[in-house]
Amino acid sequence: MSSNNDSTDSFRRIDIDRLRIKVDLAPDLRVKFVGRDLALRKIIDWAERGVSAPIVVYGPEGCGKTTWLRQSVEILKVMNYKVVYINLMERSLDKALVYSEDLKDLVREFISGTLEMLGAPLSSAIARLIDLAPAIAHEMIKRFRKPKIAILIDEAFQIMRPEEAAVYVKTLLNIIEHPSAEYDRIIAVVATSEGRSRSEIGRHRWAHLMPMWNMSKNDFRELYDQTPGEKPSFEDVWRITGGNPWVFRELYMAKWNINEVIIETTRSKDLTPYFVDRWRSHLEKAIEDPDHLWHKDVPKELIDEMIKRNLIIYNMYERDPVLWIDQPPPRKDLEIGVGEEVAWQTPLHRESVRRALEKMKKTDQK
Ligand SMILES: Nc1ncnc2c1ncn2[C@@H]1O[C@H](COP(=O)(O)OP(=O)(O)OP(=O)(O)O)[C@@H](O)[C@H]1O
Ligand SMILES: [Mg+2]
Repeated sequence: MSSNNDSTDSFRRIDIDRLRIKVDLAPDLRVKFVGRDLALRKIIDWAERGVSAPIVVYGPEGCGKTTWLRQSVEILKVMNYKVVYINLMERSLDKALVYSEDLKDLVREFISGTLEMLGAPLSSAIARLIDLAPAIAHEMIKRFRKPKIAILIDEAFQIMRPEEAAVYVKTLLNIIEHPSAEYDRIIAVVATSEGRSRSEIGRHRWAHLMPMWNMSKNDFRELYDQTPGEKPSFEDVWRITGGNPWVFRELYMAKWNINEVIIETTRSKDLTPYFVDRWRSHLEKAIEDPDHLWHKDVPKELIDEMIKRNLIIYNMYERDPVLWIDQPPPRKDLEIGVGEEVAWQTPLHRESVRRALEKMKKTDQK
C-alpha cells in the first residue's frame, strides 16, 4: 500500500475544489485559491499519518506560504482536526489567530490575558501569541480525548533571533514527543521567509526543513487568467515574476508599470552605493548566473547579506518533489534567475540589483 495512493484517494475524496478559499490578491481583486495541488496533497498526507517532527517551510518572500497555510486550515477542519493558525505579521487579531469552532472556549481562556493587553499596542498582544501556541496545544491534548490537532505558525521567525527560532522548534517537537496526554495525530508546521534561521534549525534534528518555490508555470497561468483588464503577455509577466504571486500583485497594483516596481524593490532592499560598489564584481556575475555565489571564493559576508535581505535562496535542494512542499523549480533556468545551487528569489529581485549597479555606474561616470 503506497502512501502516494493513499493521499491520491483522500485528495479525491476530500473534493479540494469545493474547499478552495477566496484570496484577496489586491484590494479590488478577489481570486480563487489557485493550483498548488501537490502542496495540498502534502497536508492531506500529513493529516492521515501525523508528523514525527515539526515541518519548517521556507521559500521566497511572497511565494504563497501564508495563503497555502490558510487554505490548509479549511482542509484540516474537514478532516476533523482541531486547528490553530497563528500569523505574527498580521495587524488584526482576527487574522492573526484563526481556530476551529470547537476550540473557541479553550482559546478564549488562553488569550483573555492577551486581549486585556489590547490597551497596549495590538502588535505586542499578537507577538505574545507565539508563546501561547505550545501551551494551547498541550491543553488541547489534555482536554479532548485522543484529538487530532494541527498547529500552524506563520511568519514566526521574523521576530526571533535564529537561535531562538531553533529553540522554538524544539518546543513544538516536545509536544509531539512528550505530550501531556494521549493524542491521535499531530501536525505542526512553521512557515517563514526569514532565511538566516534556516541553517541554525538545520544544524539540529528538531524539524524537517522543506522548501516551497514560486508557482509552477501552469498554476501561474491560471492566476494570470483570473486577472481582469489589459495586461502584458503571459510570457512577459512570467519573465519578471518567475511565478511569484506577490510580485504579480505588485505589478497589477502598479498598473503593470514594471519599472516602478523595480525602483520600489531596489529601495526596499537597501541597495546602497556602498553595498553595490563593495560587491560589484560578484553581483554582476550573480546576475548572469546565481550559481556564481556558490564558488568558494565568494565571501561569506556577501552571501549572508543577500540571504538577510531576502534576495537569494542559497543551497537549493535537489529537485525531487518529495523534498519540496509543491512543485520544485527547474534544475536551472537562467531566464528566471534559478541556478542549480543558488537562485534569485524572483527575477524582480535580480532586476533590482541590476538597476542599482547600473545607476551607480552612471553616477560614477558623471
Ligand atoms: N495559490 C494562490 N492562489 C491565489 N493567490 C495566491 C496564491 N498564493 C498566494 N497568492 C497571493 O499572493 C500574495 C502573496 O502570497 P503570500 O502572502 O501567501 O506569500 P508568503 O510566501 O506568505 O509571503 P511572505 O514571505 O511575505 O510571508 C498574496 O496576495 C496572495 O493573495
Ligand atoms: Mg507569509
